[in-house]
Amino acid sequence: MDDPWIALFDRVADSFDTVVPFFSSFGELTVAALPAPAAGARLLDVGAGAGAIALAARRRGYEVCAVDGSAAMVARLSESLPAVQVAEAGALPFDDGTFDVVTAGFVLHLLNDPQAALREFKRVMVPGGLLAFTVVGPPPRGFEPGDRSHELFAEYSRYLPRDGRTDAPFDARGLLAMTGFRDVAEQHLQVELALDEPETMWRWYGTHGTRRFFDELDEKYCEEFRQRLIADLVDRPELVLRRAALLFTAHF
Ligand SMILES: C[S@@+](CC[C@H](N)C(=O)[O-])C[C@H]1O[C@@H](n2cnc3c(N)ncnc32)[C@H](O)[C@@H]1O
Repeated sequence: MDDPWIALFDRVADSFDTVVPFFSSFGELTVAALPAPAAGARLLDVGAGAGAIALAARRRGYEVCAVDGSAAMVARLSESLPAVQVAEAGALPFDDGTFDVVTAGFVLHLLNDPQAALREFKRVMVPGGLLAFTVVGPPPRGFEPGDRSHELFAEYSRYLPRDGRTDAPFDARGLLAMTGFRDVAEQHLQVELALDEPETMWRWYGTHGTRRFFDELDEKYCEEFRQRLIADLVDRPELVLRRAALLFTAHF
């Protein structure tokens, strides 16, 4: 069966992270939280996209390989990172015990079977290896988003076709425990990115996974959402995209 997320990322690959440097900013923060690499330390970035983590990790001194399920994303990333190939998160084309570190930025929550992917990450890691992944997180206290998107998404989600998707929160700790990872730790990451004009936030939503929400929403509601998002931004004293993520780390 075709994966609708892969189809989506194939479509947005060229514009991904070009409107606002959201993913590259979180990628930098994720890599900054990793230990300094020992000589020859090998890192695999799964669902690498345009290379937010992979390229930052290479700059930090890791020997980096990357995979992504989207052929268009891989074509884009291969221009700056030759060691990238098309592969499913749950079927990695590497031998057991190949990598010291496995990373996955904003990927696991998209997968039909995240536990199978975690088992596969574990298989390709050396014993004692480090796993680090991000998922979208709630804003920490005192770090409020500078827009009302959250409210609008909650309101308009009732107009989406029912296809069995749920809004159940991603249970990272439960999945890590079931897969046998230990020393699980989590930390908040946050970015604050200035926007040049209100419309930029709307354009940003068209360049990553959130696009799927609008692809599935009736055109009339999309336009209504856009107008309400922008009307709110126009009235704000500052134009800023504030978002938070949770970074989970664990050892095998
Ligand atoms: C939200 S993007 C994040 C990209 C990158 N990790 C970053 O932080 O910028 C999610 C990426 O996961 C990839 N992806 C989605 N499902 C996948 C799967 N089943 N196997 C491998 N990659 C997948 C998408 O193609 C996309 O590039």
